Amino acid sequence: MKRTIEEHADRFDEIAADYDDSQNQTAEYRACVSLVVDHADPGPEDVVLDLGCGTGAIGLALAERAGRVVGRDISEGMMERAREKAAERGLDNVEFGRGTFRDPAYDGRVDVVVSNFAMHHLADEEKREAIETIAALGPRRFVLGDVMFFGSPDPENPLYSPEVDDPATVGMLADALTDAGFALTAVEMVHEQFGVLVAERAEARE
Ligand SMILES: C[S@@+](CC[C@H](N)C(=O)[O-])C[C@H]1O[C@@H](n2cnc3c(N)ncnc32)[C@H](O)[C@@H]1O
Repeated sequence: MKRTIEEHADRFDEIAADYDDSQNQTAEYRACVSLVVDHADPGPEDVVLDLGCGTGAIGLALAERAGRVVGRDISEGMMERAREKAAERGLDNVEFGRGTFRDPAYDGRVDVVVSNFAMHHLADEEKREAIETIAALGPRRFVLGDVMFFGSPDPENPLYSPEVDDPATVGMLADALTDAGFALTAVEMVHEQFGVLVAERAEARE
């Protein structure tokens, strides 16, 4: 991790008010949101855990069809915006609270875990630990949208911020997911630096 959790939280607190407007201007972000929501595909009884939920782009979209959505983040400013949006949309089956990839601070039932544009803040070894933590929660599906490298990124054209972000290769993520007991069931390349991976519990598919 190139910044501490507190530094990341402060950084996102500062940009929370403008986050949605600035992110939605990039086609890659919009495409990843749409793919993560489509692949998560929760049923009406399902509990969804959204890690690094931010202002709720994924969690709020899924709350319209899931039984319950639990959002976890380190930035109170981002989650405050998510709560405002939930209230504006009349969604009462969603809650947002502090939790990290290492400790999501949630020990209830989870059917589907989602995470969009957040895991790239972790170093690769921390991503591995996060994926193991997610697997231990026992979801049938984990959908990860993020900055990730399908090839060798052009150092002159990084579509992320190298001073704060630490993206992984798709290969590293695929290995970590399969090592944790998931089967990789879909790989969506949005751009050579952005993608969505769908992982399902191997035993659930037998
Ligand atoms: C770029 S935003 C993405 C937010 C949202 N998922 C979306 O798609 O718009 C990244 C979010 O990850 C959160 N974050 C960063 N490091 C985290 C960690 N270790 N645990 C939980 N959340 C983290 C940040 O606070 C921020 O809200």
